[in-house]
Amino acid sequence: MDVVILKDGDAVAAAGADLLQRVLRRKPNAVFGLATGRTPLAMYQRLIAACRDEGLSFRDVTTFNLDEYIGLSPDDPQSYRAYMKRELFDEIDIDQSNTFLPECGEKTDPLDVGPAYEALIRSRGGIDLQVLGIGRNGHIGFNEPTSSLNSRTRIKTLTRETIAANRQYFNDPLAQPQLAVTMGIATIMDARQIVLLATGKEKAEAVRPTIEGPVSAMCPASILQMHETVSVLLDEAAASALTLRDYYDWIAQQKRRISGKKEGR
Ligand code: GLP
Repeated sequence: MDVVILKDGDAVAAAGADLLQRVLRRKPNAVFGLATGRTPLAMYQRLIAACRDEGLSFRDVTTFNLDEYIGLSPDDPQSYRAYMKRELFDEIDIDQSNTFLPECGEKTDPLDVGPAYEALIRSRGGIDLQVLGIGRNGHIGFNEPTSSLNSRTRIKTLTRETIAANRQYFNDPLAQPQLAVTMGIATIMDARQIVLLATGKEKAEAVRPTIEGPVSAMCPASILQMHETVSVLLDEAAASALTLRDYYDWIAQQKRRISGKKEGR
């Protein structure tokens, strides 16, 4: 696990955008797993700017989002589909027919959505880079605490804590869904590379067990310790509860030294 502690949210956004761009340069038809929420917004802004000003192209890219609410139509502004259109897809050159969320249309049986989504991900060759945020209780996607670490895309009941944290996005609390379809933890772990972004003090108590705690379904993000290629990008506030802080700084120093040597400095 590569733990990268950066000055602020801007630096986290820049480092995240850089990771995505590196994958895209290597593989123009990359498959990205994407996340919603407040955290990735600044990174999306940077990707939009790179598309507009630097010739970055998502023309051949496919995307799979982590999750979608059950009971909101795609054009409901609170749906994650609407979020993705507004915050990224409408602003870049992606072919929107290659953008997928685990959506549950009116006529679809919610129980069919998960297996169909898994099959679709497989048919596109799997996910090259999965972007994650983290919930205050350590959830990834909507895999709440006690989710099976081996779970696949399926319906999840949201915790009261998650519903409360996301209430700010809903004008009418009665319109806020309590169910969602989310990629499973095993689905996320199948991605070839993962980047988790966390910013702000309210994430510090979820970040610590993710990196330093035992692997446990009580903190679903802790499973990332078992993945070979994970970067955790943190701002100072989100990193503030880590106990091995000095060690992460020491590693960063060694990395700078090694890369300096490589570049002949
Ligand atoms: C939501 C989403 C997650 C997201 C998390 C954190 O519930 N399902 O994918 O990572 O909450 O959101 P935010 O970045 O707004 O704190």
